[in-house]
Amino acid sequence: MELDATSLIDVDRLDAEVTAMYRHVARGEDAGLHFEVGRPLAQRLGYPGPLLDAIPAAALASFAGVGHHLALAALRPGEAVLDLGSGSGTDAFCAATLVGVSGRVIGIDMTDEQVAKASSLRDGFPQVEIVEGRIEALPFDDASFDAVISNGVINLSPAKDRVFAEAARVLRPGGDLVILNLSYRDDLGEDRRDLAALARGAFEIRRYGTREFRHWDGAAFHLVRRAT
Ligand SMILES: C[S@@+](CC[C@H](N)C(=O)[O-])C[C@H]1O[C@@H](n2cnc3c(N)ncnc32)[C@H](O)[C@@H]1O
Repeated sequence: MELDATSLIDVDRLDAEVTAMYRHVARGEDAGLHFEVGRPLAQRLGYPGPLLDAIPAAALASFAGVGHHLALAALRPGEAVLDLGSGSGTDAFCAATLVGVSGRVIGIDMTDEQVAKASSLRDGFPQVEIVEGRIEALPFDDASFDAVISNGVINLSPAKDRVFAEAARVLRPGGDLVILNLSYRDDLGEDRRDLAALARGAFEIRRYGTREFRHWDGAAFHLVRRAT
């Protein structure tokens, strides 16, 4: 899949379908979804039980991530974190628990019902803010975050070049980009590769290790944060 696929697909239709799908997730209407959601998924992916106990259960019920990237993120108390595609808020609230009240976590999502749900659950999390918007055009200042995290979202964007450019812009120098995405290996046949690209926006897994993901318009960022 190209980094900019906006000329290859119907972007409005993609947006409408993604938004409709994640409205179902926010409402807890998971019967027709092609993916698993909720606490059992988070536990299976490796989220520690005590961390999940610390966040709102209603957010966790709509968790739809693809892995436990916070294990790599090693967030520290006081850090400023941006969660791209924050959904109903599981990762934002988990990050808030890790950075504490001296830190700051902003979640951004384009699906109105996800934003409304996560925002309604912020009691006890004064360090969390949820905003409605697109990850391709972030409404934040340059160099304003220590870490940018994202879990199962960038693969949904038709303009990944803009997402990475924006992530590099809002990260402080040396800040960390910690992402999990659906991906595929290069041993897929052409027919399945097309399906992966068109249906999910997946990249070949090896592309994440290439230079293009580490440097954007002269702004360098670490693709994966140090583990401690
Ligand atoms: C897999 S879910 C995110 C899961 C989330 N990390 C959690 O803790 O449950 C994907 C989210 O990304 C949002 N999204 C997809 N494409 C987006 C885009 N281009 N800009 C902003 N949000 C987007 C969807 O609305 C959806 O809520």
